[in-house]
Amino acid sequence: MVGRRAYLTNVSTDNRSPLPDRIDSIFKRAREGKALFVNRNVLMPEYVPDRLPFRENQINTIAEVLSPVLHGSKPSNLLLYGKTGTGKTAVARYVLSRLQAELSKGGLTVSYVNTRIAGTEYRVLAEFAHSLGVSIPFTGLSIGEVMGRIFKEIQQKRIHSIFVMDEIDYLVKAYGDGVLYEFTRASDRISPASLSLVGISNDLKFKEELDPRVLSSLGEEETVFPPYTVEELREILRERAMIAFRKGVFSDSAVNLCAAMAGTEHGDARRAVDLIRIAGEVAEREGLQTVDDSCVKRASEKMEHDRVEEALRSLPLQNKIILLAVSRFDTGTNTGEVYLAYNSLSKKIGTEALTQRRVSGILAELDMLGLVEAAVVSKGRRGRTKRIRLLIPQDTFNKTLAEDPTLAATF
Ligand SMILES: Nc1ncnc2c1ncn2[C@@H]1O[C@H](COP(=O)(O)OP(=O)(O)OP(=O)(O)O)[C@@H](O)[C@H]1O
Ligand SMILES: [Mg+2]
Repeated sequence: MVGRRAYLTNVSTDNRSPLPDRIDSIFKRAREGKALFVNRNVLMPEYVPDRLPFRENQINTIAEVLSPVLHGSKPSNLLLYGKTGTGKTAVARYVLSRLQAELSKGGLTVSYVNTRIAGTEYRVLAEFAHSLGVSIPFTGLSIGEVMGRIFKEIQQKRIHSIFVMDEIDYLVKAYGDGVLYEFTRASDRISPASLSLVGISNDLKFKEELDPRVLSSLGEEETVFPPYTVEELREILRERAMIAFRKGVFSDSAVNLCAAMAGTEHGDARRAVDLIRIAGEVAEREGLQTVDDSCVKRASEKMEHDRVEEALRSLPLQNKIILLAVSRFDTGTNTGEVYLAYNSLSKKIGTEALTQRRVSGILAELDMLGLVEAAVVSKGRRGRTKRIRLLIPQDTFNKTLAEDPTLAATF
């Protein structure tokens, strides 16, 4: 009761409460038009720029492969490959929108589905069907039935159809290549109409999972997207920053730093564009007038922090328990000790412990994710051992794992 009264008194008499002041200054800044961004949307992941520098070859190749559709012939199937952030989706969407603008005649359709976002094989087909004007119930039909309706529509309406499947490796990994097989074999059934496939993937290994007949058909034509060089990223970012920010806000040196940072692993334009957006947000939040190198560094730290939190959150329970065991040794330890700590944590939590061999395997996976360091160290004549150390700041680690109710008892 005392506490409550004290609280009430505070609220009514304390004019120094920080909340209204901060809101006032946010509103004041906005009123005075000191916002740093003039068009934040152009830095959002779904935005497709009007110009895609350094991708002229890919744009022209795709346009050439697909262009026969404009005089009523079936285009070859096409695969687009390249690491993440190399512009595959942006280029595909760009060419499709240009093609769409030409498709006034009817009898031609262009459909785009991201198979990872669609989530299931059924949803991928249902979205394709919808784009052809065929309505498919939310659930209930067999895959064969949905495909049958798609082929019937294409054949009866004599359509030349192009179907782009982005992140196609997701579909193949989760469901195999059965649907692709049916698609690539459909030609005879639907002639003189046609169906051409464009597959997009950042995972080269997915080809190995395809039936050779599917691979030779789907890969009739291939276009590769190499990573961007740091100079190319710089040019891309300079153009983007110019339309996203008020003039003079984003310094050249900050643009260069973003390009260099995004180019360290491989030239990833997504990471580069995310960096300039988040650097702008950091500067905005701190009430700065310009975005400089230090904002970029803080943006990069924030992205790394978010990445680690997200990676931690999505780990299976056993991996989290193993990490907890590692975290019990401030300066690092060996696999044997981690295993003992893991065993006693498993008892406490009430889960069945995995074998030491399996735990070693998971530690190697956690090493790959950058969450622990498992370095081999020499012990002189006694051979070599692995030194295991947590790479996540302890406060981030505790905060994120404590969200998992199963683990709450261990904190
Ligand atoms: N040449 C370019 N010019 C301007 N912006 C680009 C260029 N290439 C890519 N981008 C931008 O970089 C970001 C990532 O590109 P995109 O989504 O096309 O990558 P992706 O190759 O499809 O990656 P993923 O394999 O992860 O799906 C987008 O915001 C896109 O607009
Ligand atoms: Mg993509």
